[in-house]
Amino acid sequence: MDTFSLLEREWRGFAAHVLQAGARTAIDVGCGRGALSGALALHGRLQTIGYDWSEAAVAVARGSLSHPLLSFETHDFGMPVRPTGVQPGAVDIVCCRFVLQYLDLPAFIANARCLLRPGTGTVYVLTQVREEMAKHARGGEGLPRAVIAELRGAWPAAPVWPLTRRGEVVAVALGDPRRAGS
Ligand SMILES: C[S@@+](CC[C@H](N)C(=O)[O-])C[C@H]1O[C@@H](n2cnc3c(N)ncnc32)[C@H](O)[C@@H]1O
Repeated sequence: MDTFSLLEREWRGFAAHVLQAGARTAIDVGCGRGALSGALALHGRLQTIGYDWSEAAVAVARGSLSHPLLSFETHDFGMPVRPTGVQPGAVDIVCCRFVLQYLDLPAFIANARCLLRPGTGTVYVLTQVREEMAKHARGGEGLPRAVIAELRGAWPAAPVWPLTRRGEVVAVALGDPRRAGS
């Protein structure tokens, strides 16, 4: 799957469901080459830090994307340690694009809740749906439907929308109903 061309389609849903007026800061968990991080800074005008545990990925992202609002750092989100550069309760948007399947779900939710701005912060998850991938694409990658439902159930507001025609890839915005526009 070409994650760069997907990003063009993805941005409209992100702007409608996630990017609210007043949002200033974002982090991109498991940013890889930094495609989404770059869009957050460039199009969303968000102060953005892209994190990946791979030093090689961070080096590629740093070498290919440059913007005054953008930086990249190494961090392992499997560790119970706060990433450098962010304060608890100060992040408007936590992004997790094609990464959640590699992380411990309860630990990720706990970390995200701690970092997010209370009341208005949003977690953005983009994931393949395992059952749909098995049916329509090669392999059974991504999160099972039941895990996506469990994730959505842990948040007061959790709209989900498809990114592909047959629903192999979905986006979810996890937040609080007090968010503007929810
Ligand atoms: C499928 S790639 C997605 C990259 C990017 N988010 C995108 O959409 O193109 C998954 C990324 O998650 C990173 N990753 C996996 N486990 C991680 C962890 N525990 N902490 C930080 N990054 C992790 C990998 O190094 C890889 O770059």
